[in-house]
Amino acid sequence: MTRLLDVSNLTVGYGPAIALDGISFDVARGEFVTFIGPNGAGKTTLLNSIMGVIAPQSGAVAFRGEALGLARPEARVARGIVLVPERRELFAHLNVEDHLRLGAFLRRRQGRQKMAAALDRIYALLPKLAERRKQLAGTLSGGEQQMVAIGRALMAEPQLLMLDEPSIGLAPRITEEIFDAISLLKKDGMTGILVEQNATLALSVADRAYVLEVGNVVAAGPATELRQDPRVTAAYLGAGDRYRDCAAPSSALHVTTEKD
Ligand SMILES: Nc1ncnc2c1ncn2[C@@H]1O[C@H](COP(=O)(O)OP(=O)(O)OP(=O)(O)O)[C@@H](O)[C@H]1O
Ligand SMILES: [Mg+2]
Repeated sequence: MTRLLDVSNLTVGYGPAIALDGISFDVARGEFVTFIGPNGAGKTTLLNSIMGVIAPQSGAVAFRGEALGLARPEARVARGIVLVPERRELFAHLNVEDHLRLGAFLRRRQGRQKMAAALDRIYALLPKLAERRKQLAGTLSGGEQQMVAIGRALMAEPQLLMLDEPSIGLAPRITEEIFDAISLLKKDGMTGILVEQNATLALSVADRAYVLEVGNVVAAGPATELRQDPRVTAAYLGAGDRYRDCAAPSSALHVTTEKD
């Protein structure tokens, strides 16, 4: 398998506080890698660094063998890296289809037929969106909003899809629908990085997993092995799953309005 993403020795701080302490990993084409870990572990910081939203203090990110350096987020999207952010970041007064079209912004000159075909693929993957294509994002349920955020990301035709806690704040039934869609994408060959507090779900779709705690990788391996690892089962799985279904922050339903 060829390597799509290489992260080496990534250190990120906010002022003097270190949020990621020299993280190294790689992702092969067609592979789904998950990072699980509690609040504040550095999961979002990691995805934001790969996206170019945050500049690291040291370390490097390479995509398809090329160092990304200080490339801006838009340039990274153009190369095929797309993030579904934790806060979803939808526009309350735009409808579902508007969001999907926005996701294809960089391919806006591709012509009507290709756009229609791309929309059809999203609606086939996430049928709830088809039912609600003209509904304003601000009136959607949390789960539907998450689907819009995923659909919008897919419209950019990513080579690497990064998902930041897609299950946060959602009921189990809708979470299952979203994870079914992620599994289908994976079967279709999509490469991904999935960040989750819900370790059970994350380990069920991912090929490999890393456990992140206060900016450090404390365990890593194939997802099937980590599911058996006593350190993981004690802290993250089963009845004693401390972090599972933590109270969702209000940001889980965050929708951007003109006032934001
Ligand atoms: N903009 C910021 N300014 C200062 N500190 C920050 C900022 N963003 C994150 N941090 C800190 O960096 C650490 C890692 O935060 P991060 O958001 O990456 O964690 P996380 O694993 O995504 O947590 P959660 O599960 O709650 O989303 C935390 O200690 C957090 O307080
Ligand atoms: Mg986070």
